[in-house]
Amino acid sequence: MNMEQYSLPAMGWNSWNTFGHAIHENLIYQIADAMVSEGLRDLGYKYVIIDDCWSKKERDEQGFLQADPQKFPSGMKAVADYIHERGLKFGMYSCCGDKTCAGYPGSFEHEFQDAETFAQWGVDYLKYDNCYKPANQTSASLMRRMAMALRQTGRDIHYAVCQWGTEDVETWARSAGAHSYRSTIDIQDSWRSVRNIAMSQFSKQGYNASFCHNDMDMLVVGMYGKGSNPDVIRGGCSDAEYQTHFALWALMGSPLIIGCDVRQMNANTKNILGNEELIAMNQDPEGRSAFAIQTTYRDDQIVLAKLLSDGSFALGYFNLSDQPANITLNFRLLGLPEEINEFYMRDCIGHRDIGKAKRSYTVKLFPHSCRVFRARIAL
Ligand code: GLA
Repeated sequence: MNMEQYSLPAMGWNSWNTFGHAIHENLIYQIADAMVSEGLRDLGYKYVIIDDCWSKKERDEQGFLQADPQKFPSGMKAVADYIHERGLKFGMYSCCGDKTCAGYPGSFEHEFQDAETFAQWGVDYLKYDNCYKPANQTSASLMRRMAMALRQTGRDIHYAVCQWGTEDVETWARSAGAHSYRSTIDIQDSWRSVRNIAMSQFSKQGYNASFCHNDMDMLVVGMYGKGSNPDVIRGGCSDAEYQTHFALWALMGSPLIIGCDVRQMNANTKNILGNEELIAMNQDPEGRSAFAIQTTYRDDQIVLAKLLSDGSFALGYFNLSDQPANITLNFRLLGLPEEINEFYMRDCIGHRDIGKAKRSYTVKLFPHSCRVFRARIAL
């Protein structure tokens, strides 16, 4: 078993946010090429994931799933080979019900057969959705079933359960064999959606840890309201809002799955997605969950703190409110005693050392903005 493939939040790209139904093998090839040429692969974004709408509407006579020959004329094995030859990993999508959310065949009562098909095609990651589940079935049991089917293939396949936060998924996803679990309804390309998802997960951070991560959905960073998926496309966000979105997902230990068209990223998008200091916080090997510290009477002006394996803290100051805010963190709230109360602070978005801060640190934040620091005890 490839432990590293499972222990950390997954990083990659998924077709759904920007392309929805409009997928084709040439698009996937171009995306794979861009993941390499734009440096995303080398930053850790290694999965190229084809979401819903890739198959024919019917199985073949033996019950096997078939790739849509118009969209994938070369077949899925060829797509997998193309992706693997570029040092990337290949992700696909199915669903625990009779049909996928978009109405293609689901894996219900074909779980072991489909897992074997995916393994033969060279799939390294499976997103497993929750639509059209028979009424007499629980998600937990169907999600467990696919976990067993994937292991039975003998291939390393990262298992990403897509449960939308229903049925208290955070309490059973780990025991079901998932490597991540979607914890919210679908993201849309708007500030409101980003904010609501983040706010809904602050109290659930304690469930998030190595080998089974809280998936807050694919990133909308860099979409700017563009794309052909009406379920996701909204007005878009400002660059500051996309920065806050990325920092929240990074610190909250969510998988970082890019959803924009990586063939056409502008400099700001590259900068946000390419922030190695924030990626390192997300990919910290110990995988500790973050905790939220409310520093004012408002629950949308908070600091997220995450203990890192080198002993430092990731500290994210977030103003999710619509008013400017001064957020002060008293280091006592992290557990520091009075006599040891200084941190060396490094700004991990501005990429510069700030020097020492004594007892507390205050930042001024515009609405919807953030600052992220690495804080190390100064002794
Ligand atoms: C659900 C999932 C989305 C996407 C669509 C595809 O809504 O939550 O992420 O996979 O299905 O139809």
